[in-house]
Amino acid sequence: MEVITWARIIHVLAVVIWIGGVAMVTMVIIPAVKKLNSKEDKIDTFERIEGKFANIAKVATILTALSGFYILHEMNAWNRYLDPRFWWIHAMTIIWLIFTVILFILEPLLLHRLFRKYTQRNPEKTFRIMHRAHWVLLILSFITIIGATAGSHGLYFF
Ligand code: HEM
Repeated sequence: MEVITWARIIHVLAVVIWIGGVAMVTMVIIPAVKKLNSKEDKIDTFERIEGKFANIAKVATILTALSGFYILHEMNAWNRYLDPRFWWIHAMTIIWLIFTVILFILEPLLLHRLFRKYTQRNPEKTFRIMHRAHWVLLILSFITIIGATAGSHGLYFF
């Protein structure tokens, strides 16, 4: 089996673990945590679960990018960045960039502190905003997955 096929397997597996985890947090964990009674329980439970997933997501984002750029290089397909028909290549890169900035920069430097501060002040509002942000990223990721799977198999939509 060729190396590029292994890269595709790693790419899809990493995306499944990463975006699947985001789906689990958005559709199951945040709604469950919202229902907990005390602020302290909400903060502790959410931080413990999301903190553990953040480490898994970091590894998955690195593997996704390494395999993705390797496939692009092997296919000699960098010029796809210049063709709007390949909007899904741009979408994959942008989604990866957004999550990378959140996971490696914003979360440790800023979001962690803001989350604690605003959950103490107004837990309902903080969780509502955070839940919405998770849905936005999840829906953009779903659109990207649809575009990338179709596009990789010759269906470009535009
Ligand atoms: C730096 C970021 C990324 C790069 C450079 C990249 C690159 C690639 C390349 C070159 C392909 C193969 C295209 C083809 O065969 O014509 C691919 C496939 C794919 N990528 Fe990405 N990707 C990245 C991130 C992502 C992300 C964030 C997602 C999901 C949200 C994603 C989901 C997929 C899917 C579902 C496929 C289709 C696999 C298949 O059906 O064969 N990728 N990617």
